[in-house]
Amino acid sequence: MRVYLAVFALLAAVHCKELFNGRDLVLRIHAESEDQIQILKELERDVDSGLDFWTHAVSTERPVDILVPHSSLNAVKVFLKKNNIPFTVMINNVQELLVREREEMVHNAEMERKSKSFNFAAYHDLETIYSFMDTLVASHSNLISKVNIGRTYENRTMYVLKFSTGGVKKPAIWIDAGIHAREWISHATAVWLADRIATDFMGNRAPVPSILSHMDIFLMIVANPDGYVFTHLSPNPHYRLWRKSRSATSNPKCPGVDLNRNWDAEFGGPGASDDPCAEDYRGPSAQSEIEVKNIVDFIMNHGNFKSFITIHSYMQLLMYPYGYSGTDAPDQPELHDVATSASKALNSWHGTVYKVGSIFHTIKPASGASVDWAYLRGIKYSFAFELRDTGRYGFLLPADQIVSTARETWFALRYIMKYVCDHPY
Ligand SMILES: *[C@@H]1O[C@H](CO)[C@@H](O)[C@H](O)[C@H]1NC(C)=O
Ligand SMILES: [Zn+2]
Repeated sequence: MRVYLAVFALLAAVHCKELFNGRDLVLRIHAESEDQIQILKELERDVDSGLDFWTHAVSTERPVDILVPHSSLNAVKVFLKKNNIPFTVMINNVQELLVREREEMVHNAEMERKSKSFNFAAYHDLETIYSFMDTLVASHSNLISKVNIGRTYENRTMYVLKFSTGGVKKPAIWIDAGIHAREWISHATAVWLADRIATDFMGNRAPVPSILSHMDIFLMIVANPDGYVFTHLSPNPHYRLWRKSRSATSNPKCPGVDLNRNWDAEFGGPGASDDPCAEDYRGPSAQSEIEVKNIVDFIMNHGNFKSFITIHSYMQLLMYPYGYSGTDAPDQPELHDVATSASKALNSWHGTVYKVGSIFHTIKPASGASVDWAYLRGIKYSFAFELRDTGRYGFLLPADQIVSTARETWFALRYIMKYVCDHPY
């Protein structure tokens, strides 16, 4: 195996930036044995391979999706064939999808400018999302305010929308999206959710008014603004598929920290890399990243959060702690029941199927993750969503699926919020 891995190292001499050129594709790999899983794990650990693992080798039941630079394609295919590992091509036209997505955005921005309206069925850049937030706050100033929680590495402001009917430090629910920059459906869903919470409150539609009479909701639509801006710079995989923050690291060629491995929750444990070139680079120390620190400080200063929900994509999963360990969290049975009921509520809308479980068992071991941090700080109802899809498009979910994704997510989310509200602790 070592021999084949070395082939990649040679091919991938040029790091990151030049690697992806648009003629890349996404392979879907179906491991058939524990041995093959180990081989894929080893391949993922080899950051010099230049491969971008969109999903991870955990069990034979779950496919592994890898973005493969065009220059490495033959080597990867030879490698998989030599090891008898079956694969199919999931996306053979990454560049085409990226260009189409870009064209749709440009066209939509023009339409929005002409009609002076906001289209929920489109992806938006940071500036447009921030101005959407201002408009929403302005038209619901009795309910919503915008909280500035600090600045990013590149000095952008980080905003949280606060939904509150008054009172000081009421029990609260935290929701964030976009901590991984390329997961655009999470930002778009959060935008729709912000509007939905406001309109359900105004229209007196259950359960929102009763939830908001007991609790506040804090919604952070863009948890990684620098990364998000970077994904908009060019319809080229190196930019659009950026996951991490944009801070400088000890390796000048590899900026960025995985903001969901940087929390003070078994930091440095399994399922996070100490190599700045890795997609899951954890950073030099817990909360070294200003974006994570800003959120941590905000939540700790508030001191009365009862639920912490983070929205990612993709794979259609609803998960709870732990990520860093395979042992059950003390509240595992209850969290599992809540997640199961929430996923049933979600499914009732379009029939979308979600899997439920702990992060460790459903995705992969992951230390330094935000929900583990929240749970370890006593925020019992901590959940992580992985939205659509299960792999046809992966991170490049077409914009025409935004509204249906958001709507079904809302069914799960409002179930969880109502449950939290009904189970004070
Ligand atoms: C960050 O941005 C603010 C507001 O635009 C500005 O006042 C400040 O000087 C900036 N800080 C740095 C270090 O650039
Ligand atoms: Zn993610």
